[in-house]
Amino acid sequence: MTKKEQNRESTVSLSKEQIIEKLTTTVIGRNLSLFDSVESTNLVAKEHIQRELVDGEVLLALEQTAGKGRLGREWTSSKGKALTMSIVLKPLVEKPYLLTQLTAAALAAALSPLADFGIKWPNDLLLNNKKVAGILTETVYSGSTLEAVIIGVGINVNQDASDFPDSILTKASSLKMELGSPLDPNAIAAAFLNSFEVMYQQYLQTKDPSLFLEICREKSLIIGKTVWIVNGKQKKKARVKDIGTDGELKIIDDMTGMEEALYGGEISIRGIDGYI
Ligand code: BTN
Repeated sequence: MTKKEQNRESTVSLSKEQIIEKLTTTVIGRNLSLFDSVESTNLVAKEHIQRELVDGEVLLALEQTAGKGRLGREWTSSKGKALTMSIVLKPLVEKPYLLTQLTAAALAAALSPLADFGIKWPNDLLLNNKKVAGILTETVYSGSTLEAVIIGVGINVNQDASDFPDSILTKASSLKMELGSPLDPNAIAAAFLNSFEVMYQQYLQTKDPSLFLEICREKSLIIGKTVWIVNGKQKKKARVKDIGTDGELKIIDDMTGMEEALYGGEISIRGIDGYI
């Protein structure tokens, strides 16, 4: 048996029924589809948003052939070894850009029984300084009206080192690799969706993001550190001061000493000597 075949055998299969069985939600994931192979669950969600998809619907795939990350990057994962899903939200939520951080907080909270995960603002979940999950939030507008928000979440669950290109092994990993044994992806999916619903409902009702932003601050891997702020081809050194009340990253430019606020967008953060 090859190493790849052994790896495949050690993983528990993703099953729609097993996820639904573990859900405690009323809206999120109550409509759930599991595809064998799609280009990207976010793309499928966008294509079907107008007619078929309802609020809280979740689309999962065993495999994505053109998974997307932030900033136009690729998101790759070996078939059946990662969780790749999109949550469709239809109500008119205030400040949809905050949902990436809500999702990061919900993920960190859901996975906290396994380990202490860190958040790299705004959308990365790290364990032992390696990225194990990422979030891609996309909005769908009809004219100037927000029709839906699609929260794409990729969680590296049961990949082995051989499943990652060598070039990213220094900065990416899986829960299995970091924790030492395979995990049940159904339990992880359900725990995340349960945690997401609690935070999302609370945000819809109160319009107050402070609860999830506080989790993002507590779990932040960059507050208090000097990092590279990368914006396209430009990069500058800055010290990260805080995450503000609107989810913005408050930084102090190393050169000018001036305080600035960064709002997600095209920005990415890099550690001075490594990934973070
Ligand atoms: C990132 O870290 O840059 C974001 C990664 C988001 C990946 C997920 S996987 C499910 C959904 N479908 C996609 O094509 N991307 C998101």
